[in-house]
Amino acid sequence: MQNMASYNVIHLVIWLTFLSLVQLPMRSHCADPGPLQDFCVADLNSPVLVNGFPCKNPANVTSNDFFFDGLQKLGTVFDALNVNLTEVDVFAFPALNTLGMSMNRVQFHPGGENPPHIHPRATELSLVTEGKLFVGWVSTAYTLNWKILTAGQVFVIPPGLVHFQLNVGKGNALFYAFFNSQNPGISKIAPALFASTPLIPDPVLTTAFNVNKTIIDLIKSRASVLIP
Ligand code: GLV
Ligand code: MN
Repeated sequence: MQNMASYNVIHLVIWLTFLSLVQLPMRSHCADPGPLQDFCVADLNSPVLVNGFPCKNPANVTSNDFFFDGLQKLGTVFDALNVNLTEVDVFAFPALNTLGMSMNRVQFHPGGENPPHIHPRATELSLVTEGKLFVGWVSTAYTLNWKILTAGQVFVIPPGLVHFQLNVGKGNALFYAFFNSQNPGISKIAPALFASTPLIPDPVLTTAFNVNKTIIDLIKSRASVLIP
């Protein structure tokens, strides 16, 4: 009987060791899953709902599917914070489906700011090509890591952490962000807290920020302009 019990315990230990070894690489895997075929150009109109998008019929895929020329011209429409953001994600470029990559081009007028935000599904690599940008991100220990970047310089932002870019130069600034996800997602902190639908109730925010309702109402009245 005792032999049987120790046999079961040994069995359990072997299984737990096996499971933890199998799980380890998965837990440290914070990018999109790898592709199971050469390509899977997204069929964005398919009614099928899966993680990512179903593939367009490979028989109908041509070189044009792997080509994107939407960055040829600089953008001309700037938001309230003096930024023009062009996303080259799976929605703009369906060939990225299953390939685990995407990019953004971000243009700044003087004083322009890409306000504090997170990407829930990606690490970001930021390359400045023009101007002078103050780039920063905050760790979970609430340490601000920052640099003032000029052309040719790169900063990396770990996944899911709050970060921002502010044009601190005299002229325009331009940078490219590269992501290890076809769909990094973006959540801007100010509209998430002060312009959600429905709004977060005042008592939640007055307590969280340790201020009175007048201040929360003032921020709420201004935050809606930040909604992309
Ligand atoms: C910059 O942080 C971007 O997300 O494009
Ligand atoms: Mn970003």
